[in-house]
Amino acid sequence: MNSGKKIMLSGVKPTGRPHIGNYFGAMRQFVELQNTFSGYVFVADLHAITSLQNKEELKQNIIDVVIDYLAIGLDPKKITFFKQSDIAAHTELAWIFNCLTTMPYLMRAHAFKDAEAKNKEVNVGLFDYPILMAADILLYSPDVVPVGQDQKQHVEIARDTAEKFNRVYGETFKLPKEYIVENVKVVPGTDGQKMSKSYKNTIPLFATDEEIKKAVMSIPTDSKGIDEPKDPATDKIFALHALFASPEELAALSERYTKGGADGIGYKESKEILIKNISAFIKPLREKRERIALDQESILEILQEGGRRAREVAEAKMNEVREKVGVKLY
Ligand code: ADP
Ligand code: TRP
Repeated sequence: MNSGKKIMLSGVKPTGRPHIGNYFGAMRQFVELQNTFSGYVFVADLHAITSLQNKEELKQNIIDVVIDYLAIGLDPKKITFFKQSDIAAHTELAWIFNCLTTMPYLMRAHAFKDAEAKNKEVNVGLFDYPILMAADILLYSPDVVPVGQDQKQHVEIARDTAEKFNRVYGETFKLPKEYIVENVKVVPGTDGQKMSKSYKNTIPLFATDEEIKKAVMSIPTDSKGIDEPKDPATDKIFALHALFASPEELAALSERYTKGGADGIGYKESKEILIKNISAFIKPLREKRERIALDQESILEILQEGGRRAREVAEAKMNEVREKVGVKLY
């Protein structure tokens, strides 16, 4: 970590199969950043248990998310890849931050307010979620925290918490900044809304050809014939072409959409092209994932090795914190 490169850090919740919205909106940023930054990516398993309380499912999800990230090209030699619960300093620091944080402050967090508004039962862990996240971040002094728009407030809470600690106990934590990629903020789903697990409109990132076909075929269309002009700006199939077609192919498709006539394109053909392009994109990823999944031992080793590296950094910071707080006597 002393290569002079800036440091990035992010956590990923082990919550099941990722979709292409997750990939373009969040996951692939890590792979791009790993060449210019050094840093950390970890599986946020302690955050997951605020809502997932099933041992077998959680274990499987943790392994799956590690495989997912290795398959898209996260390189554990470049980025320290570890599991949050392996580093006890995260929860220890979260407790210390809890004692500096007021209830009204955390009550302003969007995630808590949403849960309240929906009359969901809010456990203390969910209420405290942003503070554990602040500890995750601040232990490793990252320069940037790549996240989706929905996590922006959490990074702001981490920054406030760092400032508060520094004010009370003296300069200790670097103030972190979120890093949000603007152009792919919202990948549309098969129904045109934001692609999301909760809307059941996803195309899984490691989908089989059969799943890709089924998802694309389910995209709703109107009754326009092949030769009728169509507006690429409002067409749900075209919105997905934009992610998978080459610039030349996209320009040609756009022309066929708008012009119509003898060179026009029907929805069936457009869907077939989309299926072909998505399949070509996913196939190598899926095959790589299958290969990685065969070697569970290596996956566990990667996490353990990442844990050793992360622990060193986290423990050094924690020692400084214990000293400043006044609990370190020897
Ligand atoms: P979901 O909405 O399917 O539950 P998550 O909330 O788990 O997805 O999101 C995980 C990450 O992927 C977040 O950083 C989020 O901003 C990003 N993300 C999710 N859906 C999309 C989308 N449709 N387009 C772009 N980014 C997305
Ligand atoms: N809350 C984040 C999410 O739901 C995951 C996360 C946990 C995280 N700790 C983090 C992200 C620290 C960035 C930094 O996506």
